[in-house]
This record gives sequence, structure tokens and C-alpha cells, in this order.
Amino acid sequence: MDIHQYLDQQRQRIDGFLEQSLPDSLRDPEKLYESMRYSLLGGGKRVRPILTIASAQALGCDDDAMLSFAASLEFVHTYSLIHDDLPAMDDDDYRRGRLTNHKVYGDGMAILAGDALLTMAFELCSQDSGGHGLTASQQLQIVRELAYGSGHQGMVGGQVMDIQAENQEVDLAHLQKIHSHKTGQLIRAAVRIGGIIGRASPIQLDSLTGYAEDIGLAFQIADDVLNMVGTREELGKDAGTDEKRGKQTYPSFFGVDGARQLGEECVARAIDRLKAFDSKADPLRQIATYIVERKS
Ligand code: IPE
Ligand code: IPE
Ligand code: MG
Ligand code: MG
Repeated sequence: MDIHQYLDQQRQRIDGFLEQSLPDSLRDPEKLYESMRYSLLGGGKRVRPILTIASAQALGCDDDAMLSFAASLEFVHTYSLIHDDLPAMDDDDYRRGRLTNHKVYGDGMAILAGDALLTMAFELCSQDSGGHGLTASQQLQIVRELAYGSGHQGMVGGQVMDIQAENQEVDLAHLQKIHSHKTGQLIRAAVRIGGIIGRASPIQLDSLTGYAEDIGLAFQIADDVLNMVGTREELGKDAGTDEKRGKQTYPSFFGVDGARQLGEECVARAIDRLKAFDSKADPLRQIATYIVERKS
């Protein structure tokens, strides 16, 4: 299996769904839809929805009916990026190779586009049709996973810890807590939602959860490393910003090589968690490796 080919195929599948799920900007309020589409459809690796798909595939399910659940993670993720880039947060000018949403549409519209993407994510995964065949209780569990991963004990909680830690000395345990929340929890939700779609047994869901927690940390370690060693051309966003904003990161603790090694250890642990799964989990295994080897 060629992982890059796999990622390209799944990305196209998701992009097609995202494109048709968001109203065009001819509808009122036009500017809102334009701003939402600008960020949602403007590139992005689509790692979280791909993880949902790969997790369901590991359990033998590969139905297009799951795309609304997978896409809901990209809606939440895109909203989190729009808000993360605002002047009141990381104050960044570039994202996904283009100006950030607030640079084009203004802070007010960027905040509202983020809000609308977040709420639409819940609309998408609570629809009662779509042929997914899940019971109401399974679907409710998916909605709850998404809420938990996104909210006060998930991504938002982590973002709070992240801004509070700027220009502060934080120890490693706290840094890991920030990372596991601001990035890890949404990745955890993505994988668990795939597990629920694939009707995972409790033991399988535990293994998938462990896998997700390990790759979630590896993902943010890689983001920190790339922030230190990458360029705007490669990343599609400015590099060197963590240091400028006084953020402690894995490479600021351990150096770039030390951080890379820790990322690789997380990946090895993640792959080990999948030992009871057969070759249908190969995409999940290879995504873990891709996460630390990626250049953007
Ligand atoms: C960037 O996420 C922000 C983090 C949570 C580390 P991605 O690296 O997945 O960004 P896109 O979606 O590909 O732009
Ligand atoms: C982003 O973390 C986490 C989010 C919840 C959006 P960062 O602030 O480190 O990510 P980038 O480097 O801006 O993409
Ligand atoms: Mg941030
Ligand atoms: Mg940021």
C-alpha cells in the first residue's frame, strides 16, 4: 500500500463531500458563506477525517455514508484554526498557503465563520438520514465524542492552557497536557468516531483510543518541530512563530533531534497498540509514520 496514494484518494473523497456540504456564497448571508468556504475549502491535509475513515476501515467498514461524520471533524478543525490565527490568539497572517481568514474578511466575520463551522459540524453528524445504519444511540455517542474532543475538556481547554502558558516556564508534564488537549483530543475523537462507525468492541475501541492518544502527541510534536525548521513556502503558514510568542515546545525542551526522537517513540507505541488488528489497519499504521515524517 502506498500511503501517499491512499492519502490523496481519501483527501479527494473528503474534499468532494466538503464542497457539496457547504452552501455556495450566493445564499444569504453571502459574506458568511464566502468566509466559511475560503477556509474550509482552501487546502489542508484532512488528517482528522482521514483518521475517521481509516479507523472505520480497520474494522471493515468503508461506506460513503460515514463521510458526514468524518467531515464534521474537518469543520471543527477549520474553525479552531480560524480562531487560533486571530490577533487575540496567535496573531498569524498565513494559513494553508493563503492569508488567514481575518486578514481577508476582518476579525468579526472570522469569529462568526468559525462559530458557524462549529455549529454546522453538529448539524452534519446529527442528521437522521444518510444510510449509515447506525442506531440513534450510536449516533448520539458520535455527537458526544465530537463535543468532548472539541470543548472545555478537549481542544478549547487545551487552547486556554496554551495561551496561559505563553512566556511562562512550564514543565514537561504541563506541556504534554497542553498538547494532548489542544491537538490530541480532536484526533482522539476522530479515531474513536471511526471506531463507533465500524462497531468496534470495547477492547477494540480501547486500542484505537490508545493509538489516537499516541499519534495526537506525535502530531503536535511534529508541528512544533516544523515551526522551528520549516519555511512558509513548505508549511503554508509562518515558521518561527512559537519562539516569537514565547511558547515552550518539545524542540525548545529537547532540541529538534530530541523532539523528533520522542515523536518517533510515540509512533512506535501507537503502532504497537494495533497488534490485534489485521492488514485492514495498515492505513492507520502508515498514517502514524506519515505524521512524524511529513514536511507540512
Ligand atoms: C495544524 O493542523 C494545527 C494543529 C492542531 C497542530 P494541521 O497540520 O492538521 O493543519 P491542516 O489542516 O493540514 O492545515
Ligand atoms: C493549534 O496549535 C491547535 C489548534 C487547536 C488550532 P498551534 O497554534 O500550535 O498550530 P499552528 O502552528 O498555528 O497550526
Ligand atoms: Mg495556537
Ligand atoms: Mg497557531
